[in-house]
Amino acid sequence: MAAGLLTASCGGGGGNGGGGTTPPPTPVPVTPPPPPPATKLNAVAVTKKMRFGSAIGGRRNPPISTLGDASYRSLVAQQCGLIVPENELKWQTISPDARTIDFSAADDMLAFATENGLAMRGHNLIWHQDRWLPSWLATYDFGPDVAAGTRQLIIDHVTGVVGHYGSKIASWDVINEAVDPGTGLLYQTRLSRNLGSPEAVIDLAFTTARAVAPAGTQLVYNDYAGWEAGNDAHRAGVLRLLTGMKARGVPIDAYGVQSHLGIYSIDPATGTGRYEEGPWRAFLDAIVALGLDLIITELDVRDDALPADVTVRDTAIAKYVRAYLDLMFGYKQLRDVLVWGMVDPYSWLQSIPRSDGLARRPNPYDGAYQPKPMQTAIGDAFTATSARS
Ligand code: XIL
Repeated sequence: MAAGLLTASCGGGGGNGGGGTTPPPTPVPVTPPPPPPATKLNAVAVTKKMRFGSAIGGRRNPPISTLGDASYRSLVAQQCGLIVPENELKWQTISPDARTIDFSAADDMLAFATENGLAMRGHNLIWHQDRWLPSWLATYDFGPDVAAGTRQLIIDHVTGVVGHYGSKIASWDVINEAVDPGTGLLYQTRLSRNLGSPEAVIDLAFTTARAVAPAGTQLVYNDYAGWEAGNDAHRAGVLRLLTGMKARGVPIDAYGVQSHLGIYSIDPATGTGRYEEGPWRAFLDAIVALGLDLIITELDVRDDALPADVTVRDTAIAKYVRAYLDLMFGYKQLRDVLVWGMVDPYSWLQSIPRSDGLARRPNPYDGAYQPKPMQTAIGDAFTATSARS
């Protein structure tokens, strides 16, 4: 901050009587007060025994995506207590073919995290839909006993990835998005058909992760069933899955509430998006009654029903996020909040355009790395909640 010079007032000129010349004003050096710093979100979160974090992607060297962007990295280092790789630990990414396992991008991310005192989550071991599984699975030779070969492949994959990181990753999305939102039924995949059921894949992934991971590692089922209307079947399917897993004794610790929020219609009473508070609370109540913790793993906002005006949009998005976090923070089982990216232009949602073609504003920071009202809303929600035990 540059020091400024302020001209000191010497009272009414010529006050010393006489008709002499007024002495020149004495310059007094003054450092202008700094602008109030943007709230450091994780610094507020930790006062409540919570954490704030973000997805980050790519590599430092050669520079790719957000991890390759020095401004983005310093924002993350300043604001976050944990990170999660956006794509770098997905099965298809680390194993583009059946014989390759390449952890180099995720390892670089972990090095960045360690250098900056950040934790790193693991996302994800199995994204249980054919279109997100490695494409080579379509032609993979599972051997003469297809079920046994499939079991071994899942065990080897989970063991390899979880074992590679050991105690360096303390929370894993073991299974991602296994529930079809349209029907609430579990997706069938190449893996589940070979093993006889989706549950067989899911249970094996969790039991393997538990056997390999150090004691205390958090094992998470992660999905996007949200609080907006139209998610009844999805919520019911997720709850059925979690209930079944607990009944079968599957080692699961938490439900990852992805929290890709959407403003698809405006509630005139609030000027922001609608949501179904009753069904949403019932869903969360039932999950925590199973003994599961909650994590907000991928928070961002689609602003489809909001007008083009940036101020109006940002204000309504912030209000929606604040309402969401206030509700979610009522659950003491929730400690970690991660956004799916810090800076709007990098968001994955830019590839899903608004109908007017305008850039989306889903994240807490704008393209100039300046905090938006959503950033303030997150900080205010942490400030308003009570400390976890
Ligand atoms: C997205 C990434 O952000 C994109 O870069 C990628 O092309 C597809 O996946 N739910 C998840 C995340 O669990 O892994 C997804 O991430 C977003 C939705």
